[in-house]
Order: sequence, then structure tokens, then C-alpha cells
Amino acid sequence: MASQLWYKKPIEKLLQESSGDENQLKRSLSSLSLVALGIGAIIGAGLFSLTGIAAAEHSGPAVTISFVLAAVGCGFAGLCYAEFASMIPIAGSAYTYSYATMGEFVAWIIGWDLVLEYALGAATVSVSWSRYLLEFLSKFDIHLPTQLVSSPFEVLTLSDGTIIDNGIVNLPAILIVWMLSLLLMRGTEGSAYLNNFLVILKVAVVLVFIGLGWSHINPENYVPYIPENTGNYENFGWTGIATGAAVVFFAFIGFDAVSTAAQEAKNPQKGMPIGILGSLIVCTILYVLFAHVMTGLVNYKEFANDAKPAATAFAATGYDGLQTGLIVAILAGYTSVMLVMLLGQSRVFYSMSKDGLLPRFFSDIHPKFSTPWKTNIFFMLFVSVFAGLVPVSDLGHMVSIGTLFAFSLVCVGVWMLRVKRPDLTRSFRTPLVPFVPLMGILVCVYLMYSLPIESWYRLGIWLALGLAIYFAYGKKNSKLGKQKPE
Ligand code: ALA
Repeated sequence: MASQLWYKKPIEKLLQESSGDENQLKRSLSSLSLVALGIGAIIGAGLFSLTGIAAAEHSGPAVTISFVLAAVGCGFAGLCYAEFASMIPIAGSAYTYSYATMGEFVAWIIGWDLVLEYALGAATVSVSWSRYLLEFLSKFDIHLPTQLVSSPFEVLTLSDGTIIDNGIVNLPAILIVWMLSLLLMRGTEGSAYLNNFLVILKVAVVLVFIGLGWSHINPENYVPYIPENTGNYENFGWTGIATGAAVVFFAFIGFDAVSTAAQEAKNPQKGMPIGILGSLIVCTILYVLFAHVMTGLVNYKEFANDAKPAATAFAATGYDGLQTGLIVAILAGYTSVMLVMLLGQSRVFYSMSKDGLLPRFFSDIHPKFSTPWKTNIFFMLFVSVFAGLVPVSDLGHMVSIGTLFAFSLVCVGVWMLRVKRPDLTRSFRTPLVPFVPLMGILVCVYLMYSLPIESWYRLGIWLALGLAIYFAYGKKNSKLGKQKPE
């Protein structure tokens, strides 16, 4: 008999579970809401802060090419996600797919790994949100006690010159995490409305930036378009563009979060591919145009160590009155990213708990709001710890490496299932298999390779902790493990 580690959850069982269970999530999201959910998760700290860093340190004006490269990798993975999501439209995302294709052990690893993407992703954005909030308040000469707005492990300089040296805790970051977690607990229907509103605002600010900025572009800022490599792999030239792609990869994270809401989609077979690929395409176009205008307005060198490059670039247009509005819209935009990340995280743990790999606590549904509210509370506290204490850069790399790892495994899974279960109905088929999954794996692994070595160590520690929990709890309590596999 095969070891339990490789037991696979039959897809037929998965589909049956999703339709006949009283502990159900509500099906309330339309295809358009799903695209909005994707855009809501995608446009955020990556665009509004990492574009400047990538341009200043790695790519120069060719940060546009970095965006295209990162988008290509996400596109391959997105096509694989879309096939899975249309075939197995169940909450839990990559975790659920891998349970059906690669067995319990790999599924556990992915589910555990996704905490890095969703929970730490939300923490990363909340820290950046806190910084924009400080910028906003400083415009009105309001200054919060410096010890209470920053991590104990970082030094932060505001644009008015205030230096915040090793704070105690980042309270604004914790506050936003709490507010959004409480909102999610009340149900995804209400939060989907709020999300749609935030997405419109966010796309509007990007379009205003592009529209107003375009006529103020100074073509001299594009010379040279690809600055010469300095001798370091990661600084400029074509290799710098590749490192820039690994940095701005963070800006694309989130399209896969659409698949975590599959169980709440009205028509998942159609809605999932539209949601995933639609949001990815819209964001790629916006990103390239935004980056083009940004590096055209101000010389890329001026974005070095700038935590708010969008505002710096916009200042070059002379529309000073709009600056504060821009910051407000960015703050609102960040909110929707965190909302989707927190939603995705609770749904992954909900699924893992339904399978017995985590305690029942995580799949208890609120009698009135139909949400996994206890999971929401758990992650409200968990994310707060990171939001309050860890600097943004350390969080960001962890999120990227965890996500790239999950993307690679999804690409492997789609390919495997085509070979082993060609009979299954797929309302969306990834084109050119195995070329597309293979390219997805190659690009994701290459981007992982481009990240600093410390991120690899941290990933290793996190996975080791996950293994300990699996062998101490999940393996013994797994529902599938207790049954005889077919
Ligand atoms: N893609 C999301 C962002 O850039 C995580 O904030």
C-alpha cells in the first residue's frame, strides 16, 4: 500500500464535497467581481514603491522590460492556475490542486507555504501602508509618536526629514490589519462591494498618473534606456533587468488569489479563467505604461531610497494640489490588496482544516455571516505580529520566494494531471502543454534564484516548522489518511 504521504484526494470527491456540504460558503461573486478581486489583489505596494527601487538599482528606464519579463512568468503560471481553477473550483487554491495531483504531503507543503504569500503579503503591504499614512499626516503637520509607528529593526526617514530610529511597534500597520480582518468576518459579499469601489479608485489613480504625466515626459530621461552594467550581476544591463524583474514580481502577486475564492464564484468554470487572466492582462498594461511615465518624468537615479516614488514623479507634473489625493488613493488601493490577501489566507486554512490537516477550529463557519470567522481572528493576530515588528524589505522577499515556489508546483501539477487524468473535463485548457507549464517552472525558479540567499534560509526554516506540524498533527488527523485509498 502506498504511503499516506502520497495519498491523493480524488477529484470527484472534491467536486462532490463542494456541492453537498452544509458548512458552505456563499456563492456571491460574478466574473466581473472576480476580475476586480484580482486587480484588487495585484496593484499595490509593488507598483507604488518597488518600481522606483527596481529602476534606481537594477533596470533604469528599462524597468518596463522587467515588468514584461515578470508578467511573462506570471502569465505561464496564470494559464496553469486557470486550468486548475476551472476544473477544481474549490476554495483553497494551489493547496487543493496539489492535494488532487501530487498527494497529501506536497499539498501540506504548498498550503503551509501559501501562508508566506497571503499572510505575510498582507503584512508587507500593511507596513508600506503605514508609511504612506505617515506621509499623508505629515502634510497636515500631524506627527505620531515615532516609537509607535515603526519596527524595532529599522530606521525610517520621512520626506520632511524626520528620522524614526528603531521604533517599538508599528501600530498603524496593526490597526489596518485589524480593521480589514473584522470586515472580512462579516462576509465576502459586503467586502466584494467595497473591493469593487477600491479597485475603481485605484485604476483611476493609475490612469490619471499616466494621462497627466504623459505630456510632461522628458525624453532625455530615457537616455540610456538600458544603462550599462556596472560589473555587478544585479546592477543594470540585461542581467540587471532580470533582477529588476524578480523585484517587481511582487507587484504581480495576487492574481492567483482569485482562485482561492472559487467556492464563492457564481459560475466558477467560466469565471475563474476570466478572473485570473483578465486581471493579469489589465495590470500588465497599466504597469508598463505607469513605469514608462514614471521614469520619463524623473531620472531613474532620483528614485534611490525613495519610499514614495509615485509621489516624487508626480511632483514633476506641477499638479501639486493632486499630490495629497494621490496618496489617499494609494492608501485606499493598498487596503484592497490586504483585503484579498487576508481573504485568501483564511480560505486556504479553511480547506486544510476541512481535510483534517489542521484543527476543526479553522473551518468553523459563522452561523450568521457564513464566514470562517475563527480563522479570520487567528490571522488577524498572526499578521499583526509581523506587521508590527518586521521591516518591509525582509517581509517582501519572503513573500516572493514563497509565492514563486507555489507557482512552480502548480505548473508541475497541471502537467502531471494532463498525463494521469486526461479524461477529466477541463472547461479551460492551458495551451501548448507541456511547453507552457515547463516555461512557468523555468521562469519561476530563475526568479527564485535571483533573490538573496537569506530568503532561501528563511524559506527552509518555515518549511521545516511546517513539516514538524504535519508529522505531529496533520498526518494523524488527516481525513484521507484515515480512509483506505483507492
Ligand atoms: N501585488 C501586490 C502588491 O503589489 C502584492 O502590493
